[in-house]
Amino acid sequence: MKIVITRRIPQAGMDILIEAVGKDSLVHHDSDLPLTREALLAMLPGAKAVLSTLSEKMDGEAMDAAGGGLQVIANMAVGYDNIDCKAAAARNIVATNTPGVLTEATADLAWALILGAARRTGESERFLRAGNWKGWAPLQYLGASIHGKTLGIYGMGRIGCAVARRACGFEMPVLYCDAQHADLETEKALNARWVDKDTLVRESDILTLHCPLTDETRHAFTLAEFKKMKKEAVIVNTSRGPVIKEEDLHQALRDGLIFAAGLDVYELEPTIYKPILELENVLMLPHLGSATVETRATMARMAAENIVAVLNGRQAPNPIQ
Ligand code: GLV
Repeated sequence: MKIVITRRIPQAGMDILIEAVGKDSLVHHDSDLPLTREALLAMLPGAKAVLSTLSEKMDGEAMDAAGGGLQVIANMAVGYDNIDCKAAAARNIVATNTPGVLTEATADLAWALILGAARRTGESERFLRAGNWKGWAPLQYLGASIHGKTLGIYGMGRIGCAVARRACGFEMPVLYCDAQHADLETEKALNARWVDKDTLVRESDILTLHCPLTDETRHAFTLAEFKKMKKEAVIVNTSRGPVIKEEDLHQALRDGLIFAAGLDVYELEPTIYKPILELENVLMLPHLGSATVETRATMARMAAENIVAVLNGRQAPNPIQ
């Protein structure tokens, strides 16, 4: 029995695997740094299960590197664009993710970025820390108001809805764009209205992205969209980096097409499109959406439980559909 764990994970997940198969069966990249592709492929031969993270591309080549006995890939993430699900299905490999448990943490972080980008907390903190503050001033670091403004949500799944719930406290009307309409009761409770993408882009004061990365959502936000947005608008991305074309976002922020951006995810993580780093009107975090102590422990437990279930011939609790 060989289980590959591609990254240092919370002990709660390790404990479940150790109890199930013993420590000697675990091949662990016990590091906070991502594996190189070569190192990943070298770890996989003979693996029956892989506990992966969003940084490892689990494609057909990686699956074949395991050598035919691979039964389950348990992603410690809700997003699974790093897994080639068709290739997994073709090889009878079960792929699983961690839905539900990171909804609230990610919605909280989206709000941290909404508030921080709108109220310019990043640039004003840099100013203060640099020793430049000479005292309160009526025109200092004026931001965008949030209360009562229109919140636009692109992708109204679990996380989008959780973001909308928080907007009630700010008395914000919500517009959302999603392939599916929410039911009337949900729309009423969230003060939310379905609109098409064009309306969402034109009418949102705050636009926050909560869609999965798919062929349809890749580069869903480019210069064409930024040109239609309000000049006072703020865009926030806690979904996946490639949903925004970073080069175009840079141009929009630089040229004042929009007011500010809050980013937790990037097109080529962990590489950041360099020119964007030079702009003050973008608040940037290193992919921390689910990064709370409790949430990450629960995610690790969930991924480990998916592995144990499949290896014991049971149905995985969280198969990717
Ligand atoms: C994080 O980005 C996740 O998909 O869980």
